[in-house]
Amino acid sequence: MKKVIITGGTGLVGQSLIPKLKKAGFSPNVLSRSKRSEKGGVEFIQWNPALKKVDSDELKECDALIHLAGANVGSKRWNKSRKAEIISSRVDSLNLLYHEFEKLGVFPKTVISASAIGYYGMKTSPGIYDEQSPNGNDFLAEVCSRWEEAAHQFNPHSRVVILRIGVVLSNKGGALVPLNKLTNLGLSSPLGSGKQYMPWIHIDDLSSMFVHALMENTMAGPYNAVSQGDITQKDFLKTLAKVRKKPFFMPNVPAFVFKLIFGEMSQILLEGKAINGDKIKKAGYNFMYPTLESAFKSLM
Ligand SMILES: NC(=O)c1ccc[n+]([C@@H]2O[C@H](COP(=O)([O-])OP(=O)(O)OC[C@H]3O[C@@H](n4cnc5c(N)ncnc54)[C@H](OP(=O)(O)O)[C@@H]3O)[C@@H](O)[C@H]2O)c1
Repeated sequence: MKKVIITGGTGLVGQSLIPKLKKAGFSPNVLSRSKRSEKGGVEFIQWNPALKKVDSDELKECDALIHLAGANVGSKRWNKSRKAEIISSRVDSLNLLYHEFEKLGVFPKTVISASAIGYYGMKTSPGIYDEQSPNGNDFLAEVCSRWEEAAHQFNPHSRVVILRIGVVLSNKGGALVPLNKLTNLGLSSPLGSGKQYMPWIHIDDLSSMFVHALMENTMAGPYNAVSQGDITQKDFLKTLAKVRKKPFFMPNVPAFVFKLIFGEMSQILLEGKAINGDKIKKAGYNFMYPTLESAFKSLM
């Protein structure tokens, strides 16, 4: 069986991806900072990317590397040290693996790295952004650019695919969990203007997309991983309320409230560009959940 190493495979995306990799005949090996024992055919390898520690023997005979590791962008206020951790946990961790593979003298055939639609910058603006669009100039754009550069260094040894991920819809974590709670209480309301875009993808589509990228040898470079990239946050929340048969009449929550509470991180909630997801469809990926209604219904 072909060995696939998954950094940060213990997280939301990894947990959905691992069973799909097994079903497709791959042998998943998860790089995690905590010590864990083999479970259900999944091997765990402990590493400490902050201390540049990884057992290079464990990297041998690796067919593909999937890079998901990274300090959560939305869980803590962005002060200087948190920003450094957000970058380093994605970039230095991948640099560490690159150097270890270089020392071994063999590279995985395929490297697939997560990135985010934050690559284009968060500021709401007219137009639809595709993979040819330039990167933005805010903090998340810097994170994504450096993350992608770290992945690109595996070229030409490996086929490098980058998935620029939108808001992941899952009932096990991420943005939908708090939004569901508010909607169920009848308290859902647009945040700020509500006109910011909220490009989204269902967790099952995202994890299947990673498997598709692994198996589809013609894929290389960046792909926007969004099902629907041009829906505003107001319409997103309105649809959620409709599917859950809940009211949607609360006034918008003023932007300054979020700016006060979350500081610079509030841009994740208050801003968002429209994103074009055609390239991944042209690469042969068929979405299971192309509409918001179908995605919400499957997650009830
Ligand atoms: N979920 C989304 O809506 C979304 C949207 C766009 C992009 N993405 C990106 O896609 C990737 C996977 O997302 P996810 O939702 O699965 O993330 P997640 O649930 O936060 O999991 C990421 C994993 O990274 C590891 N990690 C956390 N902090 C770390 C640190 N300081 N240094 C090294 N490793 C660390 C953890 O694994 P261990 O504790 O086992 O080491 C964790 O399980 C992330 O890089 C994320 O930024 C996600």
